[in-house]
Amino acid sequence: MRIDKKQRLNQIRQFLAPYEGIFTREILDFYPESLSSYPKAWIEALQQLSPTDLFHFDSRKFQPQNLPNDLLEWWQKLSELTTFPEIKRKEFTYDDWTWSKVTAKKKHELTKMISVVQTLTDEAPTQIIDLCAGMGHMSRLLSGHHQHQCTVVDFDQELLQKGSERLKKHPLPYPPNVQFIKKDVLKDDLNELFRPHQFSLALHNCGGLSIKHLELIKKHPQHHFINVGCCYYKMSVQGHTNLSSYAQELNLPWTSIALYLSTRAHYQQDINDFETKIQVKKFRYTFHLLLQKMGVNIKAVGEVPVRLYRGFFSDYALLKLSEHRVPHHYSVTDLEDFFIDQQIQNKVWEMILANLIRWQLGRVLETYLILDRALWLEESGIECEVAQIFNEQISPRNLAIIG
Ligand SMILES: C[S@@+](CC[C@H](N)C(=O)[O-])C[C@H]1O[C@@H](n2cnc3c(N)ncnc32)[C@H](O)[C@@H]1O
Repeated sequence: MRIDKKQRLNQIRQFLAPYEGIFTREILDFYPESLSSYPKAWIEALQQLSPTDLFHFDSRKFQPQNLPNDLLEWWQKLSELTTFPEIKRKEFTYDDWTWSKVTAKKKHELTKMISVVQTLTDEAPTQIIDLCAGMGHMSRLLSGHHQHQCTVVDFDQELLQKGSERLKKHPLPYPPNVQFIKKDVLKDDLNELFRPHQFSLALHNCGGLSIKHLELIKKHPQHHFINVGCCYYKMSVQGHTNLSSYAQELNLPWTSIALYLSTRAHYQQDINDFETKIQVKKFRYTFHLLLQKMGVNIKAVGEVPVRLYRGFFSDYALLKLSEHRVPHHYSVTDLEDFFIDQQIQNKVWEMILANLIRWQLGRVLETYLILDRALWLEESGIECEVAQIFNEQISPRNLAIIG
């Protein structure tokens, strides 16, 4: 099943239209005015939910109980707009050597990527360029097990060196043919490396790197390619969003905050992770209210080790006040009293619930970015599809553009 990319982009655009005030900024930007963008009835409805239902609402693992119909429909619509055909192709198994010092996540990703490569090439040896490939695990397998001729490109000489040494040590069924090339994908000329009739891969190329891959494909059409992006917050809004002329027409107002939101992953969390996230927000939002009371404005206060969020608010607040050199006369008792003040707690909880609504928009924003990239390629006559290549619970950045 192929999806109609333009239609989906348009559906998402219409869906997002009423929530621009939510996804383009954080709760703390212009608080309390920022809360006016959130349907009041939804925050009230979330106030009635049990912690487990809130966790289900956020993690999307199970349908939460007791949501009002309109909020439930909204929550379900998000699934509809972000669902893509899942790729199920023949998979290969490899010996233990292959996976030594490779994480379970990476093993899953490589198995899925290689199964797509093997399907598209009909298992015939081909030339492959593996962009921003780190140690080149994928190329090691593609070459040593499947006889492809691979070029690994990365700007980190140490990773390339490690990959090259590992290749020498790994007993493989076929003599590997892998070239390791040090290049800065954003600065160096890669035109020579992008030969026609080859297969180019860009797995989890952060921010603008994956766009660079697509630019090179537009210039030098490849026989096949797989492009999987990540870390969208590292891209610039200007020049890296609304790439296709169709997206330009739809004109979604991207901001760097929206790019952060699109990078959010929620699928791996269990209820303990969820509670920790809530605790982090409790401290952060309470501290914001304290700063507001003091007439101080600090945009980014910075993270602290997780164990501090499990301790006393006063420890956190005193640390942050001192880090940011904010003069004050607060004692530990003053700060703890502020933290447990019922009015403050109510305000903080309202902000947390609003933020749970906001977080829901992350995946749909990511979907929008990927569809736009695919349409941008198609405008240059490059056929491609968007598909879910990895299991989202194992590897959340799982949308691939495949050509
Ligand atoms: C998230 S890792 C992905 C590695 C590999 N593709 C994978 O999925 O396991 C991103 C890689 O991009 C490389 N990288 C980052 N910026 C780069 C640049 N400007 N030019 C070349 N490589 C770069 C890093 O060294 C790193 O190996």
